[in-house]
Amino acid sequence: MASPSPGGSLGLLLWLLLLPPRLGASSPPSPPPSPPPSSPPSSPPSPPPSPGGGPEGPGASVWRATRPPATSRPREAAILSQLVELVPGCGQVTAKILGGEAAEEGKWPWQVSLRINQKHVCGGSLITQQWVLTAGHCILSHFSYTVKMGDRSIYEENTSVVVPIRNVIVHPQLSVIGTIQKDLALLQLLYPVNFSMTIQPICIPQKTFQVEAGTTCWVTGWGRQEEYGSKLVARILQEVDQDIIHHKRCNEMIQKAMTTNKSVVLEGMICGYKAAGKDSCQGDSGGPLVCKFQDTWVQVGIVSWGFGCGRRNVPGVYTNIASYAEWIVNVMNQAASLYSVVLLIPLLCLVLLLGILMAP
Ligand SMILES: *[C@@H]1O[C@H](CO)[C@@H](O)[C@H](O)[C@H]1NC(C)=O
Ligand SMILES: *[C@@H]1O[C@H](CO)[C@@H](O)[C@H](O)[C@H]1NC(C)=O
Ligand SMILES: *[C@@H]1O[C@H](CO)[C@@H](O)[C@H](O)[C@H]1NC(C)=O
Repeated sequence: MASPSPGGSLGLLLWLLLLPPRLGASSPPSPPPSPPPSSPPSSPPSPPPSPGGGPEGPGASVWRATRPPATSRPREAAILSQLVELVPGCGQVTAKILGGEAAEEGKWPWQVSLRINQKHVCGGSLITQQWVLTAGHCILSHFSYTVKMGDRSIYEENTSVVVPIRNVIVHPQLSVIGTIQKDLALLQLLYPVNFSMTIQPICIPQKTFQVEAGTTCWVTGWGRQEEYGSKLVARILQEVDQDIIHHKRCNEMIQKAMTTNKSVVLEGMICGYKAAGKDSCQGDSGGPLVCKFQDTWVQVGIVSWGFGCGRRNVPGVYTNIASYAEWIVNVMNQAASLYSVVLLIPLLCLVLLLGILMAP
């Protein structure tokens, strides 16, 4: 066997060393003028004082929904054929849910808490054993992140696992100028998690998927419970129902509230609104907006931004997942092939090295 020149294997070694940093560098875009991690841009630029906004009466607070999800309509079965096939059996809840003020254990098993130094900064959702979806604005480059999942409590670790993040990929066109756009990021876990009663993946829709306006969906998170509340995080995961509003009408509503003519809600965004006091807020960013079709839960949005929290006639704005389904799948596929290349190279080097050593 002709032994390759040592130069060949050196080239391979260099490539091996260069790959991981390049992977990392390609992910977070040049440090975006991100808002602090725990405070999503709750008000896009130039918001004049809200006319008739503000939290409702003193008794009103966000996150108080207790009703079960609306029963699904039969024609929604067709919707289930428009899911991305990442994990068979996604979007299932196996825990027995009794109802109550805060979320029951295992009720939202795909919910994760994204952390820096063990501190909750954002929500996220588990979409496969090794990938978490969150908002792009949650990612400040050069931090080491972990995710905690499997527990409704933000502090306790009764049934949870905490997993470090191997790789962060922010949507390359994330923009926080004018209005926040393409607000999503994928996090690859350092190792795959095992699914359990309290850890399950959520289904992701294909790009053809369109949820009807008016559909009742649910948003979950540990975020701030009132716009001007002093407590930054809720101890127990909270849930709130939201009726879906498409981006055009949502834009009209938010323009009115902000008294602006500038388009703030664009394609690629979807909104939710139920009533004053029912909204996502700071600390919920990155968390999932999910809808139930028959017995399967599908993630329709990612908590992105709002004009204040829980104000009357001001919907919350979410990244529309269907618009980015292809990007999500491409990133995951690419990572899978890069990963196998990275695994393969040391093996190749070893073979080459042995070849050189054993050459006469
Ligand atoms: C965690 O476990 C403890 C002890 O079993 C229990 O008292 C507590 O309520 C649990 N926490 C949650 C959030 O369920
Ligand atoms: C998942 O389960 C397998 C088999 O029980 C176990 O070997 C592995 O360590 C588990 N992984 C994690 C991350 O807990
Ligand atoms: C918005 O547009 C309306 C009608 O085109 C105009 O009368 C109004 O002055 C505009 N407002 C702002 C703030 O530009």
